[in-house]
Amino acid sequence: MLRPLFPRFLAALAILSTVLRAAEPPPIKVGEFASLTGKEAAFGQSSHKGTLLAVEEINAAGGVLGRKIQLITEDNQSKAGESATIAKKLISRDKVVALIGEVASMRSLEAAPIAQQFRIPMISPSSTNPKVTEIGNYVFRVCFIDPFQGVVMAKFARNSLKLKRVAVLTSVSSAYSVGLAKYFKERFTQDGGAIALEQRFTEGDKDFKAQLTAIKAANVDGIFLPGYYTEAALVCKQARDLGLNLPLFGGDGWEAPQLISIGGAAVEGTYYSTHYSPENKSPAVSGFVERFRKRWNNEVPDAMAALGYDAAMVLADAIKRAGTTDSAKLREALAATKNLPGVTGDTTLDAQRNASKAAVVIAVRDGKFKFLETVAP
Ligand code: PHE
Repeated sequence: MLRPLFPRFLAALAILSTVLRAAEPPPIKVGEFASLTGKEAAFGQSSHKGTLLAVEEINAAGGVLGRKIQLITEDNQSKAGESATIAKKLISRDKVVALIGEVASMRSLEAAPIAQQFRIPMISPSSTNPKVTEIGNYVFRVCFIDPFQGVVMAKFARNSLKLKRVAVLTSVSSAYSVGLAKYFKERFTQDGGAIALEQRFTEGDKDFKAQLTAIKAANVDGIFLPGYYTEAALVCKQARDLGLNLPLFGGDGWEAPQLISIGGAAVEGTYYSTHYSPENKSPAVSGFVERFRKRWNNEVPDAMAALGYDAAMVLADAIKRAGTTDSAKLREALAATKNLPGVTGDTTLDAQRNASKAAVVIAVRDGKFKFLETVAP
C-alpha cells in the first residue's frame, strides 16, 4: 500500500521545492576583483575576507530589497592588465550591478574606465591615489586619499621623528607610490624639512643596493618609502645590511603580515600610516574584530579587511536607499552617502566621490604592529 505512494510523494516534494525556489527572488550580483594571489596577495585576501563577511552578515539579516547578495569574486593575480579584463567579464557576462575593487591604485585605475564606460558603479575599498575617482562619476572609494596621507606622514616625520633631511625612494611604476611621494615632499619641505635626494625603483625589483648606497652617501636622517610591503621589507633588510640605521617609514602599502615575516629585525623601528587599528577600543571596531576572527580562523583584521567590509556596507546601504539596482539610480544613491557608520569611521562621500576619514600611525615594535596615534582629517 505504501509502495506505490512513496515515489509520488517524492515527486510531489521535488515539484514543491522547485516552486519554492522559483518564488525566491534572484540574488543581486556584485562583482569583486582582487589580488588573491601573486605579489600583493595579502591585499586581496584581506580585503576579500572583509567584503565577504559583510555580504554574509547582510544576507543573514535578510539581504537587501528582499534579495540576497551574491558576491562574484575574480582573482587578478596582482598582474597588470587583468583587472580591466575581469571588470569587462563581470559586467558583460555576470551582469553584476556594481563592482568592488581594488586595493592597489594601479589596478583600480585599470578597471575604473570600464566601469565608467558601462555605467556600472565601482567602489574601491582602499585605493588612495586621487586619480582613481577622477576617472568618472561612476567611480567611488570609501577611504581617504593620498594628499591627506602624505601630509600625515610629513608631519609625523617632522614633528614626532624630528627629521630634517630625508631621502625618498619611489616606485615609478605605481601610481600610488608616485602620488604619495609627491604629497609627502610638498608638505615636508613646506614644514622646513629638506628632501636630500630621490631614488626610484619599479614594482617587482629585488635589489635596492644601488639606490641605498646613494642614499647612504647623502647623509640623511630618514628614508620615506611610499611602496608596497614586498619591496618595503626588502629595502629595510638591504638598508640594514649597508649599515643604514635610520628610520624608514611609509604609507598604508606597508601593511601586511609579510612586512614583518620577510623584514624580520630590519623592520623594527619603522613606521607607516594606515586607515584603522584593530587595537581601537570603540564598539564598532571591537565588534568587527570579534566577528572577523570568528569567521576567519582567528585572524586579526587589518585595514584592507576593515575597508573591504565598509565598501560592501556602503554599497548595500545605497541599494536600499535607491530601492532598485538600476545603475543610474544606484550611482545617485552612492553619491548621496552620508554619515554611514562603519569600521573605519563614518562614510560621507563628497562631490569627488571620496571619503574623508582619520588616519592612524603604526610602529613596528618587537615584531608587532603597534598603534601610535590617530590623525583627524
Ligand atoms: N592605498 C594603497 C593604494 O592605493 C593600497 C592599500 C590600501 C594598501 C590599504 C594597504 C592598505 O595603492
